[in-house]
Amino acid sequence: MRQSFHGRTIGALSVTGNAHYQEPFEPLMDGVRFADFNDVESVKAQVTDKTCAIIMETIQGESGIHPADRAFLEGVRALCDEKDILLILDEIQCGMGRTGQMYAWQNFGVKPDIMTTAKALGCGVPVGAFLMTERVAQKSLAPGDHGTTYGGNPFVGAAVSKVFDLYEQMHILEHVGEVSVYLEQKLDEIVDKYDFLKQRRGMGLMQGIVTEKSSSEIAAKALDAGLVVITAGADVIRILPPLVITKDNVDEMAEKLIGVLDAFL
Ligand SMILES: Cc1ncc(COP(=O)(O)O)c(C=O)c1O
Repeated sequence: MRQSFHGRTIGALSVTGNAHYQEPFEPLMDGVRFADFNDVESVKAQVTDKTCAIIMETIQGESGIHPADRAFLEGVRALCDEKDILLILDEIQCGMGRTGQMYAWQNFGVKPDIMTTAKALGCGVPVGAFLMTERVAQKSLAPGDHGTTYGGNPFVGAAVSKVFDLYEQMHILEHVGEVSVYLEQKLDEIVDKYDFLKQRRGMGLMQGIVTEKSSSEIAAKALDAGLVVITAGADVIRILPPLVITKDNVDEMAEKLIGVLDAFL
């Protein structure tokens, strides 16, 4: 089941609702339907006796940093349990400690049947993973099934293993939990300072600022000032700092961002 949630991107290409990502890859997989994010009734309205899975991001990234409501996640989980539908959470952007928990769904206590994870999983080594519960595995995978040529190769396996060691040794989750409170405070101060900034939203080190000025112009000026921020659509400045960012780094970021935003007054 594809869920665009008002045309927002929610996952891999074949199930994204974002036309920008879809169009170059058409024709896309058939049989995918869309519902609205954070609206469980709209999800129910799309479910039929043929629905096999519901896929979404726990916190939507490309769409402009939209965290799921707890009630929505719980409602979708209950719907999946009731109808024997798989819940797939795409944690590629919001996972790997970015919200202070290893996976964003852990903030809500709503466990998926299948989960995707990538990005910091290899800390620069290209690797992604598709994880499933034992129950799902028993009913879907058998020895000898085709995997992928490079799937689970020793090189990326060693990288992932090292990444998990480093997360423990460097107390990444605790660090993100602490530093993100400071980041949120600083970003809130910035949003209060400028009339054209309307809202901060997000969790942990995954934050978006809604702007009435062009987000791409702000991002371009920020880059000139030595600050890398990205956009999510025309009206959101997306802030996804490295998980090892310090409070001093946050101060430096805030100072640079203020310098950039002043030029838009
Ligand atoms: C939420 C989400 N899902 C899927 C993807 C695609 O991941 P990959 O490039 O590993 O296919 C991305 C890429 O940014 C993403 O942010």
